[in-house]
Amino acid sequence: MFKKHIPWAEPYKIKVVEPLKMTSREDRLKAIHEAGYNTFLLRSEDVYIDFLTDSGTNAMSDAQWAGMMMGDEAYAGSKNFYRLEAAVQKYYGYKHLVPTHQGRGAENLLSQAMIKPGDYVPGNMYFTTTRFHQEKAGATFIDVIIDEAHDTASLHPFKGNIDLQKYEDLINRVGADKIPYICVAATVNMAGGQPISMENIRAVKELSDKHGIKVMLDATRAVENAYFIQQREDGYSDKSVAAILLELSGYSDGATMSGKKDLLVNIGGFVAVNDWDLFEELRNMVVVYEGLHTYGGLAGRDMEAMAIGLEEAVQDQNISARVRQVEYFGKLLEKAEVPFIKPVGGHAIFLDAKQFYPHIDQEQFPAQVLAADLYVESGVRAMERGIVSAGRDIVTGKNHKPKLELVRLTIPRRVYTQAHFDVVAYYVEELYKKRHEAKGLKMVYEPKYLRFFQARFERL
Ligand code: F0G
Repeated sequence: MFKKHIPWAEPYKIKVVEPLKMTSREDRLKAIHEAGYNTFLLRSEDVYIDFLTDSGTNAMSDAQWAGMMMGDEAYAGSKNFYRLEAAVQKYYGYKHLVPTHQGRGAENLLSQAMIKPGDYVPGNMYFTTTRFHQEKAGATFIDVIIDEAHDTASLHPFKGNIDLQKYEDLINRVGADKIPYICVAATVNMAGGQPISMENIRAVKELSDKHGIKVMLDATRAVENAYFIQQREDGYSDKSVAAILLELSGYSDGATMSGKKDLLVNIGGFVAVNDWDLFEELRNMVVVYEGLHTYGGLAGRDMEAMAIGLEEAVQDQNISARVRQVEYFGKLLEKAEVPFIKPVGGHAIFLDAKQFYPHIDQEQFPAQVLAADLYVESGVRAMERGIVSAGRDIVTGKNHKPKLELVRLTIPRRVYTQAHFDVVAYYVEELYKKRHEAKGLKMVYEPKYLRFFQARFERL
């Protein structure tokens, strides 16, 4: 167990380095203009410190790189598949595994296999790709997260919790037969990387079982969630993160997974379930969309790296250092009195753009502005998580207007040192000092699907 008063350090040392490029303000003004004020459209070469995402940006260990040389690139029955299957069974406890190229591949399969048009899928807030696949399969997504999750100032330790009353109200309103499953994310990305408590997911499972509704976990950052349970929930401080993870996933019937986060790889994912018939359906569909059921769009070496990554990810000292890096960064920003979501989540700091730029109307994309301005100020790349990411209502075509208008500074695993955080915090503070100068944006190009990735803007 890690005592709070003892200093901590990363449980690894650096063997290979990748030089960073610093650019001038002039270069960056040109680059962001060319990118339509969308940080997704910047070239990575024009970025200094890249906090766009923790997805696929992990540094792999020497053991993982060695594992990649052990790739069994057979079309069928690769030994790396069986290794991954065994690791998933051991650490998450699910019986059957279907690998996919990444998380949204798994979401596509699960949504198509389980949802009928006219169904409802409740969830603890939404994730962009997850909701997209649910809606594409014909479901209406219903947010049943607790109200505190939408309040940037609330210090609730488990802001990812499901509001059981909201969930039960939905069951009473539409009927359990219209709810194929509840989608439980651990942690909740869009709420700020906030965890769900063991007590809550246990209650969700009980209520769901009573009504014959399946519980499907978005396990993308469940290791981080297990760490928060160890740190914050009564009765768990003496348990290992691995044991907590196994109990947590035990309150679900299956999971979709983006291995690009918790599992310390650059590509990979899976869907895992307990039910044989559902597995049969998923295994049958994967050959259409991803590849044979023993590789699902991945090379053998990728599955090997993911299996080793899972073993590393659940080690207490590894996950502790991961989350404590994010905490360290949060403390720096707190000192600077910059507005951001508290408590600090597992994978990122979420700046509160509504408070940062109160003079910019939500329809003028304050979070988009903030991400662009931070890049111009410093070369640091972050991501909008507000009205642009929320997209439009699939039926009415109107903009979703999320309560949270955020900029996510996302921390890749094992990639940056504390000095990088000192630098980023400095620039965020500098920008905050001149926040009154900021001007809104207008959207000049809007893609049809998941618009935040490719939308373009101009300065007002
Ligand atoms: N679920 C959650 C909670 C996620 O954060 C992501 C991806 C996915 C599913 C989809 O997985 O990218 O492998 O297809 N999140 C990335 C991010 C994109 O930057 O937060 P994917």
